[in-house]
Amino acid sequence: MGVVKKIAIGLGGLIGVLVVAGAGAYVWAGSAASSKLANTYTIKASTFPVPWPLTGDSLRSAESEQVGLDSAVARGKHLVEARYVCVECHSTNFGGGTMIDDPAIGTLLGPNLTMGAGSRTVQYTAADWDRIVRHGVKPDGRPAVMPSEDYFAMSDRELSDIVAYIRSLPPVDNTVPAPTFGPVGKMLIATGQFKLSADMHPSAHEGAHAVLPPAEAPNAEFGKHLAQVCTGCHLPSFAGGPIIGGPPDWPPAANLTPAGLVGWTYTDFERAMREGVRKDGTKLREPMALMPKYAKNMTDIEMQALWAYISTVPPVASAK
Ligand code: HEC
Ligand code: HEC
Repeated sequence: MGVVKKIAIGLGGLIGVLVVAGAGAYVWAGSAASSKLANTYTIKASTFPVPWPLTGDSLRSAESEQVGLDSAVARGKHLVEARYVCVECHSTNFGGGTMIDDPAIGTLLGPNLTMGAGSRTVQYTAADWDRIVRHGVKPDGRPAVMPSEDYFAMSDRELSDIVAYIRSLPPVDNTVPAPTFGPVGKMLIATGQFKLSADMHPSAHEGAHAVLPPAEAPNAEFGKHLAQVCTGCHLPSFAGGPIIGGPPDWPPAANLTPAGLVGWTYTDFERAMREGVRKDGTKLREPMALMPKYAKNMTDIEMQALWAYISTVPPVASAK
């Protein structure tokens, strides 16, 4: 999933949960949720260099090191501004932000990731970044509440570049409290309606990640890599439908297969992405309405690659 699961989490089953919740259920939910959050996960963590080294004929001089760092930071900045949505919950300065702040669900804040006082990541190794971002598991092995399932397919170099970018930002002094859950939040975790990222792709915990992303070209291979972040809402088939775990007032995700985008051209697609306006001129609603602020930073190659992939997935009828 890409854009903002922050409001997406768990409201779907809320009403049913509240109906069945008596005092006994409440006590059960509290302890069941705590035990899920106390589980530990063993990850075969990957490690990688930060910043990513220059390759090819570059000289091993101080100057080329600086060039390597600058290009890693620039790539990371682009990834954060155009493709991955870390800033929705960690803020644009990465000094800490809000995922959910609701008395019933809980206070789930995005911690400070800069090099300032109160940061959780000053001592982080590359393997720690891998565990949290691509597996949803904290350095101590416990599951995090951040939606890391969106980042399982990120390559080593992309993650390294994001780390290089975050580390290049001015340090922010800000201590962010650990997540706390309200009664509904505990119930959602206990009943599995708020699914922890660490439980979503257990097989990924064993395996290695791609070292490099596919080469940047306006083709379906690169587009498939980029479209990974769309699948949380539009599904891996791109048939869309009701968004699992989304709040009840979200519209269903559109069918992006040729059965849904009938008659769409690249121009229609680019306008929907960068301006938030459909082929018929109507405005896209939340959460898709958040896309343009990222998509306007995509390069033409990225946009063309996304279209090259999406326009060739097999047609699937929309869910009724
Ligand atoms: C939808 C909100 C959201 C998004 C998007 C998000 N995070 Fe997080 N992140 C959180 C929350 C909430 C926590 C605290 C998790 C916890 O303590 O259980 C967190 C924790 C972290 C931690 C520290 C874990 C620790 O306590 O040691 C790192 C590092 C991190 N996120 C990196 C990232 C990066 C990099 C991205 C983008 C690729 C990202 N996050 C995107 C919400 C988010
Ligand atoms: C957080 C969920 C979410 C994510 C992530 C997401 N979308 Fe959407 N998208 C939606 C919803 C919901 C709609 C329908 C909006 C409406 O009906 O107003 C939509 C509509 C669209 C439309 C308009 C189609 C039409 O017929 O109206 C396009 C194009 C689109 N999305 C492309 C993408 C692409 C490409 C990505 C990934 C780069 C993506 N979306 C990621 C939720 C999402």
